[in-house]
Amino acid sequence: MARIPTVRRLRPASGLEAVPLDWYGGDLDLSMFWDALSAVFPEGEKFFVRAVREHRDQITDPELRARVDAFIGQEAAHGTAHRALNRSLEDRLPGARVVDEQLRWVLAELAPKLFGPRQRLAITCALEHFTALLAKQLLEDPRHRQAIDPRLQALWLWHAYEEVEHEAVAFDVYQSVGGHALERGALMALTTALFVGFMGYFFARVAQDQGRASRPRTWARVAHFLWVRPGLTRRLVPDYLAYYRPGFHPESKNTGPLLAEWRERLFGAEGAVPLRERAA
Ligand SMILES: [Fe+2]
Ligand SMILES: [Fe+2]
Repeated sequence: MARIPTVRRLRPASGLEAVPLDWYGGDLDLSMFWDALSAVFPEGEKFFVRAVREHRDQITDPELRARVDAFIGQEAAHGTAHRALNRSLEDRLPGARVVDEQLRWVLAELAPKLFGPRQRLAITCALEHFTALLAKQLLEDPRHRQAIDPRLQALWLWHAYEEVEHEAVAFDVYQSVGGHALERGALMALTTALFVGFMGYFFARVAQDQGRASRPRTWARVAHFLWVRPGLTRRLVPDYLAYYRPGFHPESKNTGPLLAEWRERLFGAEGAVPLRERAA
């Protein structure tokens, strides 16, 4: 039986303005990488929600419908929480708002002109695969948790957990509306190129506010982080390539034990994440 995600609402954090800009391990360059990622979440997640919701009426399986509703609830909550974080940064990193506005135009205005509904859903599946792979590393690799400022841990870990929890929802919707491996693979290749290009540009836009957009050391630092140590991108290559296999499914790797462990740590009675209402 497929996992049905749970919608949880994070209690709004206060005092985010006091979090230093080098909140990730005291490293401003790496912190800006995560800030750029946070800047793309609100509009990116709205795009995912639209892409999935557009197909909701075609879904006949009640379980998949329930998963879709939970997916929409989770992504909406993530967008709200990241927007609050991004706003707290705006005075210091105004580029985060520019990224948000530019991305809104790309995803809400341009993308529907270039791609049909099922193609936008395939793009969503591709990006959901990326986010789930990044999220697994945030949970699995203790170096990330040690680096994240304690005030931001709840937000990043809650989001990471739920990305793993709902990793297969968009994919299963895509399969159920007649998606096929060739289209999915082609759009993964295109999405990868666009994602890398846009993230590079958005990172540069955020880094510009700190006078670091054309500083070679900054780019070398981020490249080292992505490809060498801890190798955020390098580590996801095998699972990324698996996506191109015709029989691929996001839940084929059993993430049940990882989720069970983190459900207790984050949302259990002594859980680290302050929720508006704690599930029984
Ligand atoms: Fe999300
Ligand atoms: Fe997601």
